Amino acid sequence: MNEYDSEIARTILLKNAFSIASKPEEASVILLNTCSVRENAHRKVMQRLSELQNLRSANHDLIIGVIGCMAQSMKGKLIEDGTGVDIIAGPDTYRRLPELIRRFETSGEKESDLILSRTETYSDVFPVHDQSVNAWIAVMRGCNNACSFCIVPYARGRERSRSPQNVVDEARQIAEQGFKQITLLGQNVNSYTYGKADFADLINRVSDVDGISRIRFTSPHPKDFPLKLIDVVRDNPKACKHIHLPLQAGNDRILELMRRTYTQSEYLRLAHLIKTEMPDITITTDIIVGFPSETEEEFLDTLHVVKEVGFDAAFMFKYSERENTLASRKYPDDVPEEAKTSRITRLVDLQRKISLEKNTSHVGEIFEVLVEGPAKKPYQSLGRNDGNKIVVFPNGRVNPGDFVNVRINEATPNTLIGELIAT
Ligand code: 5AD
Ligand code: SF4
Repeated sequence: MNEYDSEIARTILLKNAFSIASKPEEASVILLNTCSVRENAHRKVMQRLSELQNLRSANHDLIIGVIGCMAQSMKGKLIEDGTGVDIIAGPDTYRRLPELIRRFETSGEKESDLILSRTETYSDVFPVHDQSVNAWIAVMRGCNNACSFCIVPYARGRERSRSPQNVVDEARQIAEQGFKQITLLGQNVNSYTYGKADFADLINRVSDVDGISRIRFTSPHPKDFPLKLIDVVRDNPKACKHIHLPLQAGNDRILELMRRTYTQSEYLRLAHLIKTEMPDITITTDIIVGFPSETEEEFLDTLHVVKEVGFDAAFMFKYSERENTLASRKYPDDVPEEAKTSRITRLVDLQRKISLEKNTSHVGEIFEVLVEGPAKKPYQSLGRNDGNKIVVFPNGRVNPGDFVNVRINEATPNTLIGELIAT
C-alpha cells in the first residue's frame, strides 16, 4: 500500500510541474513516505531523517517532508523544532503536497495537513508505476476493524471503496502500458463494497480487462472471508491461486485480546475449506508473537496452527507496542524480550522447515512463470508462478513480462530453482 501511495504522491507532483530528481543530492525536495505499523519501520524513518540532515549541510535550501502513516500518527511532533522536518502530510492529503511545498518555499513556515478523509480514494490519479510487470491498485482505503495492536485505523482512517468502473478504467490503462499482473490492495479487501458490488464481483470485473493475465489481492480478513471469494479464486483463471490470510495468533484468549473476532477453530475451518476447494492453493500469513500476557502454552497454540495449516510462507513479527492503540492503553507490553526472541526463533525455524517441505514437493513439476527480471545470481532470471512462489532459472531469451514454462529441479525455503522448457 505504501509503494502505491508513493506512486500517487509522485504522480500528483508530476502533474503539478515538479520533476523527479535522479539522486537525493540533486533534489530540492525530499519526501519520505512512511509506515508506522511496527516500531522497526518507525526507527528506520528516524534514521533516514538524521542521514538527510547531512544533505542539508550541502544544500541549505533542501526541503524535507514526511508523508504517510507515521506523519499521521505522530502528528505535530514531527515538525517540532529540531526534527529537521519542514512539511508533513497524512495518507489522505497528498493532493495538497504541491501547495504545502510552495507555501513553505515562500514563507519558510513549517506546513502540515493531517486531515483524514471519509471519501478520498485518489480515484482520478491513476499513478505512474515503478515496475513493469506488476501494478498495484488500491481498491479501498482505511480500516474499520479494531485489532487492538494495530495503528492502521488511526493512521489511515475509515474505510472507503472505489467504484468498480473506476478500478476497471485504471486496470485498462495499466494493461495498455504493458503490465501483465495487477494486485488489488486494501487493508481488508473483504470490506470492499460499492453499490451492489462486493470484492468477488470486482475481481471478475477486472478479469475482463484484456492484456491482464494475473490478478492478485491482499489482504482478506479471516473473520469475514466470503465463500463467494473462494469460488472466484477457484474458478476465475486469471485469479492467482494464492491467499494471504493473516492469522496473528493461534490461541483463543490472545485472539480475543487482539480483537480479531475469530477463534482458532474458525480459522482452521476456513483454511481447511480453502484447501479442500483448491488443493494446490498457496496460503501465506502474518503472525505476531509476544502479544501482552501471551504465555508459553498460548504461544504453542500458534505453532500448532502453523503446523495444522502448513503455510507456504509467513511474515512473522515480535509484538511492538504502538502509541494510542487499544493494546497500548489496556495491556502492558509485559512479555520479556528474551521470551519474544525465543518464540520468534522457534516460529521462524518451524516455518522454514514447512516452507522447504512445501517447496520440495514441487520438484519435478512444471510451472508457468511470469518473468520479473534478473535474479541475484549471475546469468539467472527470476519470476513467480501463479501461487506467488519465486522461481529462479538460467537465463534464456526472456524479458520481464514474458510467460515461460519452468521445470523445478531444486527447492529452498524461499525459492524454486528450475530450468526453462520449450513451450
Ligand atoms: N506489533 C507487531 N506486529 C504488528 N503488525 C501490525 N501491528 C503490529 C504490532 N503492533 C503486523 C501484523 C499485520 C502486519 C502488517 O504487521 O501481523 O498483519
Ligand atoms: Fe490493522 Fe486489523 Fe485493520 Fe488489518 S484488519 S489493518 S490488522 S486493524
